[in-house]
Amino acid sequence: MKRWLAALAVAALLGLSQGDVGDFSPCLNFFYRYWPPSGFNGTPICQNYTNGHYFATLYSRERRSPWYSAYLYSTPAGKRPKTAWKYEPQLAKSNASGVMLPFPVPPKRVDESVVKSQAVQQDYLNSSYTRGHLNPSLHHQNRSDRRSTFTLTNVVPQKMESNDGMWAALEMRVNATMTKYCAGPAYVVTGIIPYRTDRWLKDEHRVAIPEYLWSAYCCPTYSRDLPESLRRTFPTFAAIGRNDANSTEEIVPVDRTRKKFVGYDVRPMPLADLEIYLRERYGRKIAIFSRQCL
Ligand SMILES: *[C@@H]1O[C@H](CO)[C@@H](O)[C@H](O)[C@H]1NC(C)=O
Ligand SMILES: *[C@@H]1O[C@H](CO)[C@@H](O)[C@H](O)[C@H]1NC(C)=O
Ligand SMILES: *[C@@H]1O[C@H](CO)[C@@H](O)[C@H](O)[C@H]1NC(C)=O
Ligand SMILES: *[C@@H]1O[C@H](CO)[C@@H](O)[C@H](O)[C@H]1NC(C)=O
Ligand SMILES: *[C@@H]1O[C@H](CO)[C@@H](O)[C@H](O)[C@H]1NC(C)=O
Ligand SMILES: *[C@@H]1O[C@H](CO)[C@@H](O)[C@H](O)[C@H]1NC(C)=O
Repeated sequence: MKRWLAALAVAALLGLSQGDVGDFSPCLNFFYRYWPPSGFNGTPICQNYTNGHYFATLYSRERRSPWYSAYLYSTPAGKRPKTAWKYEPQLAKSNASGVMLPFPVPPKRVDESVVKSQAVQQDYLNSSYTRGHLNPSLHHQNRSDRRSTFTLTNVVPQKMESNDGMWAALEMRVNATMTKYCAGPAYVVTGIIPYRTDRWLKDEHRVAIPEYLWSAYCCPTYSRDLPESLRRTFPTFAAIGRNDANSTEEIVPVDRTRKKFVGYDVRPMPLADLEIYLRERYGRKIAIFSRQCL
């Protein structure tokens, strides 16, 4: 209980220190031991879809895209939902409701305050990037959970070759592993590594493009019958995926024998390795899970 309160105090501080709307205290349950990743600076969003909190996102107003989203995995059932893309009114006006809303249907226009404060549909239109979910809809069981992921604050510009290629394969692998071997809650955090010098969608200086995506899970309670090949992937494991075929190969090497999507590889790795790469690029110590999920 003490630890919980301490975590709450820290999170509240983090939230307040941004001098911005929102803090994580109403949705700390999406973080292992109620402890949000440390070392990032941004605007906390407790993702509220119609009637409650579904996951948590640390948003960058400057980049108009998220640093990371944190969620609880649940075994999916059914197809990807058909649902409207949404935005967050509270980013546009600090006194607005914190419940995400669908973008108005044309010819109705998006309010200027929304366009200023966050990414809108227009940003992704005619760009060479797809809308890449950080918290993917297919890691959730029920329809509301799935629909709640369709907010642009949970999305980064992702190359189709990554989104439909090895990043999708990673999401499926995590799905299969968690379903089969995770015996309790599975906490997932998925985020981005920025370029050393920012690049922007359509060079418009609105939505920043990530050079890499990363993801890590923490499953404290797991099956005792793990196959040998999965022993080192519990309770925690991570991965980094390329979002640019031209990136150098120090972080993620390229397999040139692949038939499709060459240059968009995903490299699985221990959590500690991910944290080393994050530290290098962010220039400060980053920790994803409380005590490394151990
Ligand atoms: C968000 O969800 C919670 C339920 O978890 C609800 O109590 C609250 O009124 C909702 N709206 C806002 C703006 O937080
Ligand atoms: C928020 O504040 C603005 C300006 O102060 C006001 O026009 C608007 O009606 C307020 N909105 C809500 C939802 O209270
Ligand atoms: C997108 O590109 C098409 C074809 O190049 C063009 O007709 C259309 O006006 C463009 N839309 C936007 C929003 O730029
Ligand atoms: C979806 O999941 C939430 C949280 O697990 C639960 O409260 C809700 O009843 C579920 N809704 C449906 C339609 O299954
Ligand atoms: C996720 O795992 C479940 C359970 O094993 C399976 O039924 C489902 O097809 C998987 N979904 C995807 C998209 O891999
Ligand atoms: C990668 O390099 C090629 C050739 O220089 C260029 O055409 C392409 O736009 C570059 N891709 C990115 C994402 O910068």
